[in-house]
Amino acid sequence: MTTIGIIGSGNIGSNVARAAIAAGYDVLLSNSRGPETLADLIEELGARAEAVQPAQAAAEADLVLVAVPLRAIRDLPLDALAGKVVMDANNYYPQRDGRIAALDANESTTSQLLQDLIPAARVVKAFNHIYAREIPTTGLPAGDPERRALAIAGGDDAAKALVASFLDSLGFDAVDLGPLSESWRVERDTPAYGPRVTRAQLEAILPTVERVRQI
Ligand SMILES: NC(=O)c1ccc[n+]([C@@H]2O[C@H](COP(=O)([O-])OP(=O)(O)OC[C@H]3O[C@@H](n4cnc5c(N)ncnc54)[C@H](OP(=O)(O)O)[C@@H]3O)[C@@H](O)[C@H]2O)c1
Repeated sequence: MTTIGIIGSGNIGSNVARAAIAAGYDVLLSNSRGPETLADLIEELGARAEAVQPAQAAAEADLVLVAVPLRAIRDLPLDALAGKVVMDANNYYPQRDGRIAALDANESTTSQLLQDLIPAARVVKAFNHIYAREIPTTGLPAGDPERRALAIAGGDDAAKALVASFLDSLGFDAVDLGPLSESWRVERDTPAYGPRVTRAQLEAILPTVERVRQI
């Protein structure tokens, strides 16, 4: 695996790009306004980075990251995402995204909404409970007792293994929550949302998390 496709090149997308390039990947970045608006970021990232349209970022990548405001997922290049392993960093902020009944009722999760839109893709929750700026700055080598853990969730074990390998190369342990329906355990307003925790600490937190209503 060598190329990461990024759809949404704001806080999360740009910082995953920084970390991925430091780890030796090539990165295709995209946003809603067009590749020319990413010129400064591409200049900063260097020769391993290229700005493209979202459909190209999806089609030409070995692994795709979706990091857009949740309300924008219907505008993604859904056909190009079919067959891909798609990391979903999205969170639900009703003030930004509008109210989404299935989330308000705790009948779905943000990642299940994306998976429902692209049934032929394999969606894996990732990067949603870490502050964007900490992605390129808090990774540590495997085996370091302080190594940070990040949760993943998804319905396909091979896709999760691919994402876990990517996280490992960026300096993070992956903790598997199970299917996407369990990803609420690291969504907004949970104790795992934000703090820097090791694998043991995250595994201790997860069973204690209570599902609250998002307001
Ligand atoms: N910020 C964090 O620390 C953080 C942490 C964890 C998870 N998250 C979640 O990750 C997601 C992204 O957050 P962010 O802070 O990175 O947002 P952001 O800084 O506002 O960036 C959003 C990006 O998405 C792009 N975008 C919007 N609509 C698009 C579309 N239809 N097609 C392609 N690209 C589109 C935007 O492009 P334009 O600028 O061209 O419109 C922009 O590059 C959100 O769901 C957020 O809740 C954020």
